[in-house]
Amino acid sequence: MPAVVVSNGGDAPHFEGKITIYVILCVIISAFGGLMFGYDIGISGGVTSMDDFLMAFFPEVYERKQHVHEDNYCKYDNEFLQLFTSSLYIAALVASFVASRVCTVLGRKPTMQTASIFFIIGVALQAGGTNILMLVFGRIILGFGVGFANQAVPLFLSELAPARMRGALNICFQLFITIGILIAGIINYFTSDVHPHGWRISLGLAGVPALFLLFGSLTICETPTSLIAHGKNEEGKAILVKIRGTHNVDPEYESIVAACEAARMVKDPFKKLMKPSSRPPLVIAILLQIFQQFTGINAIMFYAPVLFQTVGFGSSASLLSTVITGLVNVLSTGVSIYAVDRAGRKVLLLESCVQMFITQMVIGVILMIDLKPTGALKEKEAWVVVILVCVYVMAFAWSWGPLGWLIPSETFPLETRTAGFAFAVSSNMLCTFIIAQAFLSMLCHMKAGIFFFFAGWILIMGLFALFFIPETKGIPIDSMVEIWKQHWFWKRFMTEDEYDKIRP
Ligand code: BGC
Repeated sequence: MPAVVVSNGGDAPHFEGKITIYVILCVIISAFGGLMFGYDIGISGGVTSMDDFLMAFFPEVYERKQHVHEDNYCKYDNEFLQLFTSSLYIAALVASFVASRVCTVLGRKPTMQTASIFFIIGVALQAGGTNILMLVFGRIILGFGVGFANQAVPLFLSELAPARMRGALNICFQLFITIGILIAGIINYFTSDVHPHGWRISLGLAGVPALFLLFGSLTICETPTSLIAHGKNEEGKAILVKIRGTHNVDPEYESIVAACEAARMVKDPFKKLMKPSSRPPLVIAILLQIFQQFTGINAIMFYAPVLFQTVGFGSSASLLSTVITGLVNVLSTGVSIYAVDRAGRKVLLLESCVQMFITQMVIGVILMIDLKPTGALKEKEAWVVVILVCVYVMAFAWSWGPLGWLIPSETFPLETRTAGFAFAVSSNMLCTFIIAQAFLSMLCHMKAGIFFFFAGWILIMGLFALFFIPETKGIPIDSMVEIWKQHWFWKRFMTEDEYDKIRP
């Protein structure tokens, strides 16, 4: 493969580099961290509705479920069970801050390895669970695994990738999340017929991606940035030569060394994060993740099986909805991998808002007019709704899904990168938790209005993307500060701060 000079456009520095086989290997192995996360998202709902699982651990829930009357909007819901499922997100929220420290002190690679170990222990406790304590404890340890993986993998990918292809390589994390969700849905469908231990198979198989990550990570490198930050300059440069596939790495090496020197002057990254100069990436990182969850993606995916049932697929509805929405999710993430470094981040964010807004509004109107609490939609309308759900998932999958992870991982300067990214991870976990806890009762009270609620959020996030998110395509990760200095709004935070003293 010939070496290519990276072209970033604008004033951003140009570094030479190509995509080597070794980089591809590192990307695939680390992205297994995303698969662990996606698998858990996809497996939990199904397992906690399996009768064998409920009879073993939540007998009262099982009893009540047998006698409860459900309508189209007010599904049976048990807060305790839901709290159990989402305890993972609270554990991950806390863990992401610990992981940010581990990421800085030990490096990105050991943080990913720790994630896989947490995950394996958590999986063993859950799959082999004989009492509720083991189950809850297992779930919390899994949460630690998710917190550590989601903290380290996107940062690892963004630091490893050449600027020209950073978007595409980073989005492999999201691609693996979507693959995990799809595989989990298919596995659940089959294990729900395996009595009485099908749920153990579902939970136990989560160990497979974790083992891949653990053993695979023995073959991957630490990022050059992390090595140089630890004073291992020679090793960092050698890795840079290896991953860029060229000996002409001096300009990039110098820029990383400069970033590391600046970072060394910052003793307390969290204190630095509270300074005005950190506000642009911090506000954007937190809001991107809040907005990502308030697109309603997890609520829609959760609701999809009901819609498919309404179309008349009967008992195969849940499998079909999982496979159809899951495939749309995976394939559309592929679109994002293709487009993110060509069209840029902003175009994807804005286009998807239009697509998601229209689909949510139309779904809301159809359901409001035609779906009464009891009874079903007419077949033709139900089909329209299913197609709209797919168009909605498509838009999410090539925009706010992957970019919610990509942009926060590429916009912080080195001195606040791990600490800042912990805020992104924890915001994701908090909002996922809130939506998971609130969605069913919101649906019961707001009925079809819930789709207008999410559409309202989509309007707000579209405006935010339009005015406040600068384009970061092609800009080297350690030169990102320039985009804030040139932005019409954020530039006001980039003066009168000790920042300029340490970095001209
Ligand atoms: C989100 C998850 C979501 C998934 C769907 C991720 O980026 O963080 O909450 O379930 O995308 O593909």
